[in-house]
Amino acid sequence: MGMSVTISVATEQDAEQIFRLQYLCFQSEAALYGNYRIDPLVETLDAVREEIASDCVFVARLGDEVVGAVRGKVTEDGAAAIARLCVHPRLQGHGIGARLLRAAESALAGERGATLFRLETGHRSEGNLRLYRRVGYEAVGRAKGTDGVDLIILEKPAATYATTA
Ligand SMILES: CC(C)(COP(=O)(O)OP(=O)(O)OC[C@H]1O[C@@H](n2cnc3c(N)ncnc32)[C@H](O)[C@@H]1OP(=O)(O)O)[C@@H](O)C(=O)NCCC(=O)NCCS
Repeated sequence: MGMSVTISVATEQDAEQIFRLQYLCFQSEAALYGNYRIDPLVETLDAVREEIASDCVFVARLGDEVVGAVRGKVTEDGAAAIARLCVHPRLQGHGIGARLLRAAESALAGERGATLFRLETGHRSEGNLRLYRRVGYEAVGRAKGTDGVDLIILEKPAATYATTA
């Protein structure tokens, strides 16, 4: 790529950049479903701030610019819910999304003790599904998002992390 993108834990100073990046990146998903009220587009800046404080949030940086983000948290059943993976459209297709996912998985399985990783994507989001399958996720079911989008639920046991990372 000729430039160095680094992955690190998000700080509260990153909230605004994550908020804006998410709004930009999820426009393509909104267009795909003809729904501009999907969760990542209606989330508030305060909600992003709260997630940085309590959840496991990683960013990809190019210099001072936040060019990618992902977040995850361990839920009551011991599974880690990973969400909001996004990479700036001009930098997609260079492996940054996969790197963010790995960073989140590593932290969630490590310090947060997750036994399983779980994520969801819209049923028509072929690129997302390909990426998730390629890094070891399998579809386990379907759900209806609060935004009305039909979702595919994918899971990967945390135990396979070491061999698939
Ligand atoms: C989903 C998303 C985060 C992926 O980010 P990304 O950085 O493009 O992801 P990657 O580069 O790791 O993988 C994407 C593709 O690039 C390919 N790729 C990875 N590294 C590459 C490299 N060095 N050279 C060429 N291609 C590469 C991958 O094989 C993959 O191809 P595929 O689509 O055929 O599977 C990004 O497309 C995005 O922000 N989408 C909009 C928001 C969204 O839908 N998020 C997911 C919510 S569930």
